[in-house]
Amino acid sequence: MATSISEVTRAVEALLANPPPVEDRKDGEAEHLFDAMERLRVTLEKPEQTVNRIIFSCRTLPIIKIAQGMGIFDAFADVGLNHPLTLGQLDEQTKGDRTMLTRILRLLITEKVITKSNDEYTLAPFAYQFRNDTVSGEVVKHFHAITAIQSPNYLKARDYMSPDDAFDAPHQFANNTKNHYFHWLADDEERQRPFNATMSLPRHDDHNQWFDIYPVRERLNDESHVFVDLGGGSGHDIARLKTKFPDLPGRLVLQDLPAVVRGVSLPNGIEINPHNMFDPQPIKDARAYYMRTVLHDWPDKQALEVLSRVREAMGKDSILLINENVLSESGADDTPVVAHTDFTMMLNFSSRERTESEWIELLQKADLKLIKVWRPRVTIKSRALFEAMRVD
Ligand SMILES: C[S@@+](CC[C@H](N)C(=O)[O-])C[C@H]1O[C@@H](n2cnc3c(N)ncnc32)[C@H](O)[C@@H]1O
Repeated sequence: MATSISEVTRAVEALLANPPPVEDRKDGEAEHLFDAMERLRVTLEKPEQTVNRIIFSCRTLPIIKIAQGMGIFDAFADVGLNHPLTLGQLDEQTKGDRTMLTRILRLLITEKVITKSNDEYTLAPFAYQFRNDTVSGEVVKHFHAITAIQSPNYLKARDYMSPDDAFDAPHQFANNTKNHYFHWLADDEERQRPFNATMSLPRHDDHNQWFDIYPVRERLNDESHVFVDLGGGSGHDIARLKTKFPDLPGRLVLQDLPAVVRGVSLPNGIEINPHNMFDPQPIKDARAYYMRTVLHDWPDKQALEVLSRVREAMGKDSILLINENVLSESGADDTPVVAHTDFTMMLNFSSRERTESEWIELLQKADLKLIKVWRPRVTIKSRALFEAMRVD
């Protein structure tokens, strides 16, 4: 067993020279190693090294955005995977001057995005995703680091009290706007498009879809049944439902704000209904009103308003399905993604992720009766489908 630093280094170098293909890895094995390596790093680093790493980490995203804007990733993509480029070739194909290019390349090397050998630069395979015409490239554009960077000033001015007003969040403070985050997105196609792309990205639990655990055929079994995907974005989720159950009877309807559903094209059989969920619900007595990661964007006050609009439209056989992120009750058992999503909810919306008991409490406040909490078969603790009906 490797117990000295040099032995561990040799073992890691051997793994790097011959990494096992993804399909040969056991479930969770790589994640376990990452966790151990991160803990090892913090243990072995001198305190000033750890502090420097933390301080500089907030610059990684802006550096990637600059490189993306200059066309550095596009230049590598144009010549193909693993094809090296010289400084002169990169200079010819990118925006900006050579001083800027050299400076950004130096930073990208320290970020392990690029390697340099024999005066040639090679892009790491993962970084091809940052080129301009990819969905993951759009995701980089979607993340507005300025809101996180300004949040200490926002919170200091409010004595570190949790924000609860969606119109007075760190987002308004940092971006100098009075607009709610979603209206601010809709005001500019360059913001709305990357947001939609981000929402359409596969998620870590996509192999565990809600309709794989929920009795869809049992619940949606009549021509009169309507399934409404409220706040469904560009329809990726409802499209997956249609693909899985192409012959489901009844109607499938996608609802979202007009700016979001404008121009969206979906498989035959899915209707598009532009709708603001704070207005009265136009589809009454649907069999199912479904919301995936919609309510987590709203503090309780507005989440309850949305639930009231749904409740008013629900008939005695209507079902409400809330597919949501769920925080651990202990506060010590969350993945970084879930903990950061909670922070993002605060930054953009003054909202938060909720624990299972907080979701149930919200349903009770909205006068809705919980039928069942559906959990994915493989234990993904951070996700649940709450099924509820009207209390009459
Ligand atoms: C976090 S996204 C989730 C999108 C989709 N359900 C999914 O899981 O990928 C929240 C969605 O709520 C929509 N939304 C926000 N405000 C809305 C409103 N007032 N009426 C309808 N939809 C709204 C947004 O446009 C966005 O598509």
